[in-house]
Amino acid sequence: MSWNRKHLLDIESLSPAEIVTVLDTARAFKAVGERAIKKVPALRGKTVVNLFIEPSTRTRISFELAALRLTADVINFTAEASSLKKGESLKDTARNLEALNADIIIIRHSATGAPHFLSRFLRGSVINAGDGAHEHPTQALLDTFTIREHKGKVEGLNVTILGDILYSRVARSNIQALLKLGARVTLCGPSTLVPRVFEEMGCRVTYDVDAAIADADVINLLRIQHERQRKTMFPSIGEYTSLFGLSKARFARTRPDVLIMHPGPINRGVEINSEVADCDRSVVLEQVTNGLAVRMAVLFLVNGGKGPQEIAQ
Ligand code: CP
Repeated sequence: MSWNRKHLLDIESLSPAEIVTVLDTARAFKAVGERAIKKVPALRGKTVVNLFIEPSTRTRISFELAALRLTADVINFTAEASSLKKGESLKDTARNLEALNADIIIIRHSATGAPHFLSRFLRGSVINAGDGAHEHPTQALLDTFTIREHKGKVEGLNVTILGDILYSRVARSNIQALLKLGARVTLCGPSTLVPRVFEEMGCRVTYDVDAAIADADVINLLRIQHERQRKTMFPSIGEYTSLFGLSKARFARTRPDVLIMHPGPINRGVEINSEVADCDRSVVLEQVTNGLAVRMAVLFLVNGGKGPQEIAQ
């Protein structure tokens, strides 16, 4: 399967073969990153804009470094210091960036569908770096890449996503990627944050955390997305931690080869015990490392790359 898309807007529209193409291309770029000279000229002469209208540490820096490793010119757009603050619309901002010959615009926005909106009128490529509670496709791709590296496969694995599912774009993208690749997905958290409607996507929903983690090959912890919640979804943080946090006692009851994942930012002592976050089963920082290779792959593919066969080994 070779890639033939100009944009990466979501996981929902990708086929399993397209997901595998991204993962295989990322594997080739990870090998490039282990060489003495880590740069390749795949995007030489191209301009990449990081249009982040919501805060980010990992995704923004990772996309910036990925673009630099591909020899692109990179512009980091900061909403706080821009004319968005003076009332300019997102459409006008994006068209002005295009007038400066931006070839690829990477957008993070609090509004669901903002990347899809830009893709309808921009000539260049658009990459979704997180749109509201909708999707965060490169996070799901780096998560499945990390699972595949450790477990050798995704198909047939039991993956539990524990936490605030309702407001999580990471959860929505992960669920789609994991199901498309044949994993069994269990969702767990307070019933207000894990509605049964997710069963219609093909997930198992449980409110019993011990049942959710007992046979898990992978546990992906999600933080509470306070910034998106418009009402109180559970009585207190203390109660949430006691009922759903991955404590040391709960971790001791998981499989000895379980992978502990978290997209970050972590709220230590809330959704995950600090020692568990740093233990040898935790791949949290590996996820960040793998994010660089995955984002190099995505930039390469939306710029016309076809797949891993085009990357010199
Ligand atoms: N995982 C993630 O999206 O982190 P940032 O918000 O720091 O980019």
